[in-house]
Amino acid sequence: MTFSGRHLVVIGGGSGIGFRVAERAVAAGATVLIGGRSQDRLDAACARLGPAADAAPIDTADPASIARFFDGVERVDHLFTPGASYRVASFRDADDETARSPFEAKFWGQYRAVRAALPKFSADASVVLMSGAASARPPAAAAAYAACNGAIETLGRALAVELAPVRVNVVSPGTIDSDLWRGRPAPLREAAFASYADLSLLGRVGSVDEVADTVMFLLGNGFMTGSTLFSDGGFALR
Ligand SMILES: NC(=O)c1ccc[n+]([C@@H]2O[C@H](COP(=O)([O-])OP(=O)(O)OC[C@H]3O[C@@H](n4cnc5c(N)ncnc54)[C@H](OP(=O)(O)O)[C@@H]3O)[C@@H](O)[C@H]2O)c1
Repeated sequence: MTFSGRHLVVIGGGSGIGFRVAERAVAAGATVLIGGRSQDRLDAACARLGPAADAAPIDTADPASIARFFDGVERVDHLFTPGASYRVASFRDADDETARSPFEAKFWGQYRAVRAALPKFSADASVVLMSGAASARPPAAAAAYAACNGAIETLGRALAVELAPVRVNVVSPGTIDSDLWRGRPAPLREAAFASYADLSLLGRVGSVDEVADTVMFLLGNGFMTGSTLFSDGGFALR
């Protein structure tokens, strides 16, 4: 699959899954713009990606920041939007603000990013939204987070209908051994990974490369639109 001459925007491209997608796209011939909140993280990522990459600040929790980010963008051929931070709590424990947090950050953050990118899309542009396999198999104590991922998957189908011929798809990963988890305390991470291994058909967590493969496929395949791909090792089925 060639991305030669194409321009990819990755919000949350400074680390984890977003960074690996940016790296793959550059290797395939694209130019990339990565966005995130930490300038240091963006600078370090750009240094690794080389001259085909540029960076700009964005906070997907702040609509004005999303608008500023896209004001500086000339053209979007591909958009991937994994950048979000939110809190997860049980239905019983979460106050309203905590319950709203994944919706504010992950749902509305991506909704607004696609909206702001709209005037910049090329005729054959493609979008991949970030969800999570909790949509299909809700964890014991994360009701609002699970529902938010379900809403993102429906948003992906709705935007595929409304924005065609722009293609819109969704990636819905299970637990992935990414920077996000490496930043958490080791005992917590190991317990979460062991539990996920028990719960998935393939008996392990996924890798960043495996999710990046799925995202690159959805971004680049011209006949894919309105789909959600579960990059989850069979977690949703067990
Ligand atoms: N890893 C998993 O197990 C897993 C499973 C299912 C779904 N996901 C989804 O995938 C997303 C990315 O995961 P990852 O593992 O790649 O995490 P990661 O390594 O922490 O990457 C998240 C990136 O997004 C940026 N970001 C965070 N909040 C942002 C905001 N408000 N505005 C703009 N950028 C923001 C971060 O940079 P700054 O902090 O500098 O902004 C960071 O570069 C998660 O948020 C989650 O929705 C992950």
